[in-house]
Amino acid sequence: MTATATGPLSSAAHDAYTAGLAPVLTARDVSIEYEVDPPVQAVKDVSLTLHRGEILGLAGESGCGKTTLAYGLDRLLKPPAILRSGEVTFHDASGVDIDVVGLRGDALRAFRWDKVSMVFQGAMNSLNPVISVRKQLGDVLTTHRPQMGRKERDARSAELLELVGVDPARLDSFAHELSGGMRQRVMIAMALALGPQVMIMDEPTTALDVVVQRGILREIMRLRERFDFAVVFITHDLPLLLEISDRIAVMREGEIVEIDTAESIYSRAQHPYTRQLLASFPSLTGDRGSFVRTGAEQEGAS
Ligand SMILES: Nc1ncnc2c1ncn2[C@@H]1O[C@H](COP(=O)(O)OP(=O)(O)OP(=O)(O)O)[C@@H](O)[C@H]1O
Ligand SMILES: [Mg+2]
Repeated sequence: MTATATGPLSSAAHDAYTAGLAPVLTARDVSIEYEVDPPVQAVKDVSLTLHRGEILGLAGESGCGKTTLAYGLDRLLKPPAILRSGEVTFHDASGVDIDVVGLRGDALRAFRWDKVSMVFQGAMNSLNPVISVRKQLGDVLTTHRPQMGRKERDARSAELLELVGVDPARLDSFAHELSGGMRQRVMIAMALALGPQVMIMDEPTTALDVVVQRGILREIMRLRERFDFAVVFITHDLPLLLEISDRIAVMREGEIVEIDTAESIYSRAQHPYTRQLLASFPSLTGDRGSFVRTGAEQEGAS
C-alpha cells in the first residue's frame, strides 16, 4: 500500500471528533480513471472514512470527481471508468467487514442498495415516466426482498412514501403528475426502501427551489435521526453543507485537499482552496454568519 505523501489537511479538533466514532465505510488510496483518449484521472489516491450515523459533506466545483468517487464507493462504476487501485471496505452492522472491490455477482447485487444506497444526481428526472410510483417502489422490493408478498410490498411502499412526506395516495401517480420536490422525495423513498446503513446523496436538492429544498433537507435530517444511517451528501453548495454536515471533505481535481468538522471548515479552514470556495459565497462572508449547525445560535433554524 502506498501512503500518499501529503494527505488532506485536518485539525486536531477533527481527530478528536472522529476518535470516538465507529467506521461504516472506509476507502483507502482509491484511484479512478476514465479510459478515454487522453485518459482522465478523475479520483486520485483518495482515502476517506465515513462513520456510523454521520453526515459527511463532499464539496468541490463541477468536474472535481465527486460523482465518480461516490460511484467508486458503491461499486457503480461503468466503462470507461475503472478503479485503478485502492480498497473500499464496508463495516457491516453485523460486525463483518466486506471487501467492496472484491464483490462479484449475487454478493455485489446484495450489497448495492441494501447496504449503501444512492440518490443519483438528477434523479428526480430519472423516474420512469410510464410506470407508477407503486410499481417503481415495488420493483426495488421485488428484486431485493423476493420473499415479500404483494400486500406486504404495497404496505411497505405506502410506509416509505409517508416517511418522506408524500401522501400514499400518490402510489398510483406517474412521474409527470408529481412536482419536482415530490419526485425527489420518491427517489429518497427508494433509497430508504431496504434500510441501508449508508445513503449517498448526489446533489439531491440542487434543482429545487429554496423552500422545497428546505423541506426535503429537514426530512433527510429527521430520517437520519430515526434510522441512524450515515450520509455522504454531495453538493457544490458549501453554505448548505456547513449547515447540515458533521464533517466536510473538500475535493479538488480528484483529490480531497481538506477534511474537517463543519465548524472548523467554517471558522478556520486551512487549505487555500477551501478558503477560496468559502469566499465565493457572499452569504458566508457577510454578517449572516451563523450557518454552522454546531453553532450555538442558529439563524433561521426551524
Ligand atoms: N464518462 C466519462 N468519460 C470521460 N470522462 C468523464 C466521464 N464522466 C466524467 N468524466 C470526467 O471525470 C471528471 C470528474 O467528473 P465527475 O462527474 O465525477 O465530477 P463531479 O464533481 O461530480 O462534477 P459535477 O459537480 O458537475 O457533478 C471530470 O473531469 C469529468 O469530465
Ligand atoms: Mg457530479
